[in-house]
Amino acid sequence: MDNFIYSIPTTAYFGKGQITILGAAIKAYGGSKVLLAYGGGSVQKNGIYHVILDQFAKAGLAHVELSGIRPNPRVESVEEGISIYREKGCDFILAVGGGSTLDACKAIAAGVKYNGPVTDLFVNETGLSPISVAAPLATILTMAGTGSEMDMGAVITVGDDHKKEVILHPLVNPKFSILDPEYTYTVPEYHSMAGVADILCHLMEQYFTPDVNAKVQDRMNEGVMKAVLEEAPKILADPRDYDARANIMWASSMALAGFQFLLGKPMFAFPLHGLGHELYSMYDMTHGVTLALLTPAWIRHTMRTAPEHLPIFARFARNVFDIREEDDGKAAEKGVGKLQAFYAAIKMPANLREAGVKEKDLEGIAKKAVERGNLGILTSIGRQEALAIMRDAF
Ligand code: NZQ
Ligand code: ZN
Repeated sequence: MDNFIYSIPTTAYFGKGQITILGAAIKAYGGSKVLLAYGGGSVQKNGIYHVILDQFAKAGLAHVELSGIRPNPRVESVEEGISIYREKGCDFILAVGGGSTLDACKAIAAGVKYNGPVTDLFVNETGLSPISVAAPLATILTMAGTGSEMDMGAVITVGDDHKKEVILHPLVNPKFSILDPEYTYTVPEYHSMAGVADILCHLMEQYFTPDVNAKVQDRMNEGVMKAVLEEAPKILADPRDYDARANIMWASSMALAGFQFLLGKPMFAFPLHGLGHELYSMYDMTHGVTLALLTPAWIRHTMRTAPEHLPIFARFARNVFDIREEDDGKAAEKGVGKLQAFYAAIKMPANLREAGVKEKDLEGIAKKAVERGNLGILTSIGRQEALAIMRDAF
């Protein structure tokens, strides 16, 4: 295991009713005029919006609003938020919603303190964003999945070709996040399960990494994966199952909190996310769904082209899916089969064709996915390999 530094500069207020800390917590960070940001209106329909305004009134906090942040948030929303924050003299940002709203607000938090285009703040060759200061930001999560509520990342869409760019810096970690599982009761089934697929993929992207005997990280990761597999179907059966919603929400947060399951490992690369983002760019597909579609094909590709890593996939099958099989190859294959059965159970499309992807587009998607360099962590994925994975997933 390599050396590492571990720090999560985000306080989690977890559980029902935690909203009552909102005013005092904002004031503790010097907030007096809040930029309140949200998406397309779910927060108004389910009443969370009014609960927040009540808390602002009780605490004597002024606020202005940025609404209409769309899924896979665009840089134009970020620019709008930066203008409002500056023009109205805000001193705190509160993001209420799913990963899209949270990510837009992270970019706003960095952008309002930077004298130049926010696009300058995307990750550069150092692996981090060139951010030296950010406005204080907090989140109220209404949909579990991305982990944005406890991590230092933000994904922003730019340009006519809908390219996804990343902001990555500890300074955009929220100061605090309010995680009330009841707020996720109204998330539609499709988005709830896409969130589950996203969580599982974050865990797998950190698990399917070169084995450096990071036992604590890997065993904890397996435990979270098992919890996700057990709890997700309970949400399908009853969207208001508090404990199931709570476990899935905490799994979302834990999956990427301080990238804890990657600590001590030599590399940082999320190849499935790299491939999945291109499916979104071409087809406007939901993030978690793209990952469910590609993961089995990617695992099988890696097992075939890098058999030295078979023991990792066999360990996954045995420890996460309780497969009893001595032969690593057979165990690993049974594990992928179980994973596919899980995706079917949570109603993910079975393959790219069923999801509406056209075969003629596969080559273009593969090319764009690797235009900034090969993807991959256990194997290197160039254009040919990306195409092979896409074809297999088709
Ligand atoms: O916009 P509203 O009206 O709020 O509706 C949203 C949206 O339509 C709805 N929703 C959210 N909470 C709800 C609700 N509907 C009813 N009741 C509620 N309580 O759900 C829909 C999807 O929301 P969105 O925020 O887009 O979903 P998600 O949380 O999956 O975020 C996806 C974005 O996060 C990025 C993705 O690339 C994508 O842009 N990611 C961010 C990461 C990070 N910051 O670390 C990592 C991830 O891998 C991911 O890339
Ligand atoms: Zn993701």
